[in-house]
Amino acid sequence: MARMTLPNGTIRPFDPDGNDYASLARILAANDPDAGHYEDAVRADDRDWDHARFEKYRWVAVEPDGTVVGFIDALHHPRQFEAWRYLVLPFVHPDAQRQGWGTALLAHAEAFVRARGARELRAEAREDIPAGVAFAKRHGFEVAARSWQGRLNLDAFDPARFGDPHALAAASGVRLVILADEVARDPDALERVYHLVREVEADVPRVTPVTELDFEQWQRQSIERPGLIREAYFLAVRDGEYVGVSFLRRSPGLPGVISQGLTGVARTARGRGIALALKVATTTYAKADGARELRTWNSDRNHAILRINDAMGFVREAAGLDLSKAITPATATGGAPHPDT
Ligand SMILES: CC(C)(COP(=O)(O)OP(=O)(O)OC[C@H]1O[C@@H](n2cnc3c(N)ncnc32)[C@H](O)[C@@H]1OP(=O)(O)O)[C@@H](O)C(=O)NCCC(=O)NCCS
Repeated sequence: MARMTLPNGTIRPFDPDGNDYASLARILAANDPDAGHYEDAVRADDRDWDHARFEKYRWVAVEPDGTVVGFIDALHHPRQFEAWRYLVLPFVHPDAQRQGWGTALLAHAEAFVRARGARELRAEAREDIPAGVAFAKRHGFEVAARSWQGRLNLDAFDPARFGDPHALAAASGVRLVILADEVARDPDALERVYHLVREVEADVPRVTPVTELDFEQWQRQSIERPGLIREAYFLAVRDGEYVGVSFLRRSPGLPGVISQGLTGVARTARGRGIALALKVATTTYAKADGARELRTWNSDRNHAILRINDAMGFVREAAGLDLSKAITPATATGGAPHPDT
């Protein structure tokens, strides 16, 4: 698609070989110094993107003196995949906000994906940052789902309050093991974990069903993703079967902060305290590892995990909003444009 000229600059495709990655990192950090977005993390995300399966485009907003002041990603939603659903993620440097750049970037991305048959746009905003929410509503997006980031201060948290995780597990009829040991012991361990995760993922409350990953995709996106701690990937075993999972990741760019990954229990083993035992295990690990804070994301539909997290002392940060907007695909002849990024 041709470069779009604006009164105060241009929008052009992202250039991975120049300084655009550094500009992106600067814009992200200026918008949220606490989020841990760093150049390496964005590069790693791009490198690991499954281009064979999912589309991902990016454009940058450039002022006449060449300064990159904003960018937008337009990508397929890998976890809620439909070929016609695109996530659009605009970011504008605070010094350049309220000048129309966000609107121009969104219009550019929207026109591009409409021509590729898009029927729905998704966006994300934080409820405590009015700019993003106001911007999205102004452009016709509606709130589809809310979730919170929960943070647990590990300096103040005493896992002993809940008891020993292995004793809790035993009282729930399971044994806790870690992925690192299981993989060394059993060549089929990963595939068995995959089947449990698939069952659990299907039951996580969501607006739209989760996209199923095949074994290789799951391995790439979850197990081989940088930051995963195999020694803190806990599994609950009952009669030789994996019936529970909970794991941790390190947060790129945020030393001292560990992220809680999926926690889930097999359908036949729910309601017996297994999830709590697993979470006490991950939390005990994080504290012993020297982390100061554990972070997690929970949907407001997920009452079971919210109850556990509240009991453990996770403090809910401002809600994150998933926003959605229905659009009409372009029907012009000539087919989809050639991707230019
Ligand atoms: C959201 C964001 C991309 C908007 O970029 P921007 O270049 O400032 O947006 P625009 O100048 O095109 O604003 C368009 C309209 O959005 C609304 N809006 C934007 N910022 C606003 C703010 N701070 N308060 C209230 N309304 C706002 C207004 O209606 C505005 O029109 P107006 O200036 O004529 O009143 C930018 O604030 C940002 O990068 N935020 C952090 C990242 C983010 O939240 N992205 C996701 C958004 S879905």
